[in-house]
Amino acid sequence: MLIANWKMHGTRAKVRAYAYAVNAALASSPAGLKVVFCPPALYLESAELSLPLNTQLALGAQNCHAQAEGAFTGEMSAAMLAEIGVEYVILGHSERRTLQGETDQLVFEKAQAVAAQGLIPVVCIGESAEEYAANKTADILAKQLQSFKQSPVTKLIIAYEPIWAIGTGKTPNSTEIAAAHGQIKSLLGSATPVLYGGSVKPANIAEILAIDGVDGALIGGASLEVESMRAMIAAVK
Ligand code: PGA
Repeated sequence: MLIANWKMHGTRAKVRAYAYAVNAALASSPAGLKVVFCPPALYLESAELSLPLNTQLALGAQNCHAQAEGAFTGEMSAAMLAEIGVEYVILGHSERRTLQGETDQLVFEKAQAVAAQGLIPVVCIGESAEEYAANKTADILAKQLQSFKQSPVTKLIIAYEPIWAIGTGKTPNSTEIAAAHGQIKSLLGSATPVLYGGSVKPANIAEILAIDGVDGALIGGASLEVESMRAMIAAVK
């Protein structure tokens, strides 16, 4: 699985053209590959309308609210996302944890709300630069997953994204990635898909996907252009 997280980038025209082009690129890719396109929420419906049905390309949102409805100005619910054809929801991205103050508990509640609507939560976890330097990665991952271990959420996907690797061009080495993914699978069960995210690009994706326990990648910056996405889809082969 490759997840294209566009964050706050793009235009409606670009979203439509991209969905169309990535869909075409998937025609010659391995049948088991799924690409989840996560444009800004405002454009999800445009993307959906430009996608032929039953393909390997699915739509994902970058966030949603934990409550089903209510007086929450500016928010959107899992049911609203499901209604327009969204299948996946990224939750607890480090940018939201840092900038919007999202806590482990809130991320867990959002994942429950998403799963209750039949959508698939993609929960992002990962250590900061300071925690990495202090050798605390395993402790941080265990803490971020504590609620998920106690009360399993159906169809959960985890994205291991070291905060210091996001948008920096730096990545952990393959031993470190394998250790983190192994730990996550031992906490949540070996069937839980675990994606790696943080500076994935055409030049390193094949090497990263080959690491033990890596079931796919969550890609930010390098997912924005069709050419780069095509190269990464080709690398999956
Ligand atoms: P990046 O972002 O690929 O640009 O490092 C990844 C992410 O934030 O999910």
